[in-house]
Amino acid sequence: MLRLSTTSKLIRQFSSTSAAQGAKVAVLGAAGGIGQPLSLLLKTNPNVSKLNLYDIVNCPGVAADLSHINTASEVTGFSPENNGLDKALEGMDYVVIPAGVPRKPGMTRDDLFDTNAGIVKLLAQASARVCPTAKLLIISNPVNSLLPIAAQVYQDCGVFDPKKLIGVTTLDLLRASRFAYEITGKVEFVPVVGGHAGTTIVPLYSQATGLKLSPEEMAKLIYRTQFGGDEVVQAKAGKGSATLSMAYAGARMTDSMIRAANGEEVIECAYISDNQYSSQGVNFFASLLKFNKDGVQEILSLPSNISQIEKDAIATALPQIASAANKGIAFAKK
Ligand code: NAI
Repeated sequence: MLRLSTTSKLIRQFSSTSAAQGAKVAVLGAAGGIGQPLSLLLKTNPNVSKLNLYDIVNCPGVAADLSHINTASEVTGFSPENNGLDKALEGMDYVVIPAGVPRKPGMTRDDLFDTNAGIVKLLAQASARVCPTAKLLIISNPVNSLLPIAAQVYQDCGVFDPKKLIGVTTLDLLRASRFAYEITGKVEFVPVVGGHAGTTIVPLYSQATGLKLSPEEMAKLIYRTQFGGDEVVQAKAGKGSATLSMAYAGARMTDSMIRAANGEEVIECAYISDNQYSSQGVNFFASLLKFNKDGVQEILSLPSNISQIEKDAIATALPQIASAANKGIAFAKK
């Protein structure tokens, strides 16, 4: 029999998560390597009241499993049959997309384009039609091309609001923060700007306090952050890319946007439609962003004290981002 103190603790836990006004979140690709742990983390988030899970396979099982966790949110699983995608999207405030194939050793994120572009286009079309004001978080790769696809789809449907569409780069921030911690012993927010592929990823280690490195050591650390995903792909040896750390990153970004919608001041980095480099033909960029209830409230200026190596890295990233984004837009317009 449960002791009274344990019982009341459980009841407290349940009632603290019974916010009827909580966020309604759909996860598309919820049965995958990222989708499952991401859905688990969202199920434990007290600010989420409804969790709609959609995948082309195995989703009812994942939803039934998570629905037994004693937090207040309602979990429902949807399959493509009986218009399941539209039903999963109805009334949602947030749509998080980890649907699509992951990398195998030797692949770049761009090698996923042919498969994942079509998947994300289809899912973005459905979101734009069914829940056009929901915030859309794209995890699927290549993010540098797929967020522009979603933006173009929303534009074509006449519902584009750049404040609401983001490409999730949070895993790059986790890596930068963790790699700095391994040197300084301090957990810090290290901004990462640019894009989300190889040398488009620009960690701003100049913003980490106490990180005193030679130029060679700094170049190595930046390289490790840019290609940190490859460490996981190689270690998994053909069984996919980062899933658990990505689920944690996706849950953090979703939670950050929900907390901002609830009135908290939140700063994160994410890849969005951004015109600060439009004179160079670049219309998407991951910046430091302030969020509010509408999504992105403000694109913050880069810190004035970023290093020359970081400025050079941004200059290297810009043409690559432009080319990846243009590829996505051309695909969306087809
Ligand atoms: P996975 O293969 O384990 O899962 C993908 C899921 O998507 C599968 O369950 C599959 O059935 C589902 N799916 C496929 N087509 C679908 C459709 N039309 N509608 C709904 N669901 C569909 O792959 P994993 O490891 O979960 O990775 C997913 C994506 O996330 C990949 O593109 C990967 O490259 C990307 N990724 C992004 C990161 C980032 O930092 N933004 C980090 C790591 C991975």
